[in-house]
Amino acid sequence: MAIRIGIITVQEPAYHPNRRLLEAARQTGHEGILIHPYRLWPTTAAGQLEVTGEHSARLPQVVLPRQGAQIGDACLALIRQFQLMGVSLVNDHDAVSVARNKFLTQQVLTAAGLPCPDTIFVNDPSGFFHAVDQMGGYPVVAKQVSERQGDGVLRIMNGNDARQRALPALDRRRGLMVQRYLPPEKRRDFRALVIGGGLVCAVSLIPAQGDFRANYHLGSDIKATALAPELEQTAVTAAAAVGCDVAGVDMMVDKDDRPFIVEVNYSPGFKGLEAATGLDIAGRIVHFAMDRYREKRESMGL
Ligand SMILES: Nc1ncnc2c1ncn2[C@@H]1O[C@H](COP(=O)(O)OP(=O)(O)O)[C@@H](O)[C@H]1O
Ligand SMILES: [Mg+2]
Repeated sequence: MAIRIGIITVQEPAYHPNRRLLEAARQTGHEGILIHPYRLWPTTAAGQLEVTGEHSARLPQVVLPRQGAQIGDACLALIRQFQLMGVSLVNDHDAVSVARNKFLTQQVLTAAGLPCPDTIFVNDPSGFFHAVDQMGGYPVVAKQVSERQGDGVLRIMNGNDARQRALPALDRRRGLMVQRYLPPEKRRDFRALVIGGGLVCAVSLIPAQGDFRANYHLGSDIKATALAPELEQTAVTAAAAVGCDVAGVDMMVDKDDRPFIVEVNYSPGFKGLEAATGLDIAGRIVHFAMDRYREKRESMGL
């Protein structure tokens, strides 16, 4: 039976993950549609949960939320609406609501006994300077809870730098993470892709000259790599702790081979991963989404 797979995204069909997921859906005999979160509205009417707006006449059976870190509360409400309407979600509302916020993610990971960089979550300049003291001084990393591609990650070198760059980035309502800085020369960076509780592939990333952030979109060098079994286990357990069926787990490993989980992406891009590994990642995601849909139907006795 052909299934309709909805991808929640604000990006164009040509955007790499969208293009690849639409192709993968088509190639497996299914249909992919892009759902713009601002054109389809959760609706409660006459005692029923519905969605109205674009695509409401052709609802998907499986939905992949892929709005990235900047997803807002309104889109979370749409995801929840789909879930309450019985649509299969990859990933579901609770997973997305934790993964979209790097500090909530660290809370969940730490509670699950997983290693993260030391972090103090502050919402006021006095908290920022308290955190710097606790970290033993500069440099520290100041990090927004919801940014992407390295945009919200600053390395703060001294008090002057803090006043010029960190404090203006500190919004009381949003908060700011102050994190122990691990320099690139004393660490290695990895991105692991976990789908359905198993590692699909991993890459190592080396920051571009002059940068400390190992994001693919910032020009980092990327290579397919195997992961040590403990690191693989860390990535798989991190995805499970956050509740993500599909997760891009960013990790750093220090000189003593101690891992630190940096974040769990609920809608990881996979252009670099496909290029580095030669794997059909879009196909894997679509395959998993179909399995999820079938399991759900079976569990409902359909
Ligand atoms: N505490 C830290 N010390 C040193 N480098 C860091 C630290 N946190 C993040 N980075 C670097 O910055 C990159 C981006 O940080 P991350 O938290 O993954 O945010 P983003 O969502 O922007 O990718 C990481 O992949 C890592 O290379
Ligand atoms: Mg990252």
